[in-house]
Amino acid sequence: MFISLEGVDGSGKSTQARLLVEALGEGTVAIREPGGTDAAERIRTLLADPATELEPLAELLLFLAARADLTERVIRPVLEAGHDVVSDRFSDSSVAYQGAARGLGVGEVIGLCDTATDGLWPDLTLLLKVDPEVGLGRAESDDRFEAEGLDLQRAVAAAYEEIAVIASDRVVVIDATGTVEEVHARVLAAVEARRA
Ligand code: TYD
Repeated sequence: MFISLEGVDGSGKSTQARLLVEALGEGTVAIREPGGTDAAERIRTLLADPATELEPLAELLLFLAARADLTERVIRPVLEAGHDVVSDRFSDSSVAYQGAARGLGVGEVIGLCDTATDGLWPDLTLLLKVDPEVGLGRAESDDRFEAEGLDLQRAVAAAYEEIAVIASDRVVVIDATGTVEEVHARVLAAVEARRA
């Protein structure tokens, strides 16, 4: 099964992704986006640097280039070998950040993600929901997106709500308030419900 975790910056998805990978056990492959291949990690460094000036479309295409490489080289082979993949972000991040928050268009970005991944979407997307204010308060790093502050995070949070409706067949909204253990239990319950 291909599982992605999504949420605003500081929603705790990286911690939850790690705990989920541990719970699913050996053979489960953890990836984070952007990243996961040599080229994608280099693109990640470029995108995270607050000194990088980028037009929104150029930014989107860099995320998509990283994702296309990761999908073909890592995700598809792992899934074909019968293992689970847990991804810290995937195409829904592009839809929320670039499509909605940056204004490139939700429908347009969904279409471009579909092209970049040759139609691969997660079987299950766990959307970790916290108030953007709370998230920004606990986000550890200060990358280009976090540095832009609350307005961007609010736009992203609203976009995720929309995605949860558009893609209700695969998106499960998880209450990400409470302790790490409480949220982990909700995450596991959602995965087990999908497997059943
Ligand atoms: P992430 O690694 O989740 O941030 P952090 O580890 O600092 O919490 O993601 C990096 C940033 O990239 C994050 O602010 C969201 C953004 N992003 C996009 O704007 N579009 C995308 O397609 C992806 C995958 C991430």
